[in-house]
Amino acid sequence: MTETIRACSTTDIDEEDVMRFDHGDKTYAIFHAPDGKYYATEGYCTHEKAHLGEGIVDEFEIECPLHFGSFDYRTGDPTVAPACVKLKTYPVKIEGNDILITVG
Ligand code: FES
Repeated sequence: MTETIRACSTTDIDEEDVMRFDHGDKTYAIFHAPDGKYYATEGYCTHEKAHLGEGIVDEFEIECPLHFGSFDYRTGDPTVAPACVKLKTYPVKIEGNDILITVG
């Protein structure tokens, strides 16, 4: 079953930055890209479960804070080892100043 939830406000995340969002027992990472768009992925790195919300955003990639693997957060594709398993991504919709993500 899918569910659309409010993650945060558009003003909560600087451009080219990431924010952690917890909902129920799940953790997500919400991204504000340098092109002004917003994206959402699962919140844990697929390598060893570090929080991607604590990583560094460089253009359209998120660098994991633990072993510095990277992913393209638009697609979830791993781009730098040791990251090798794709991240789940979630549709994002903007309503007013709210960032909504559809999960499940
Ligand atoms: Fe992210 Fe290892 S936990 S690269």
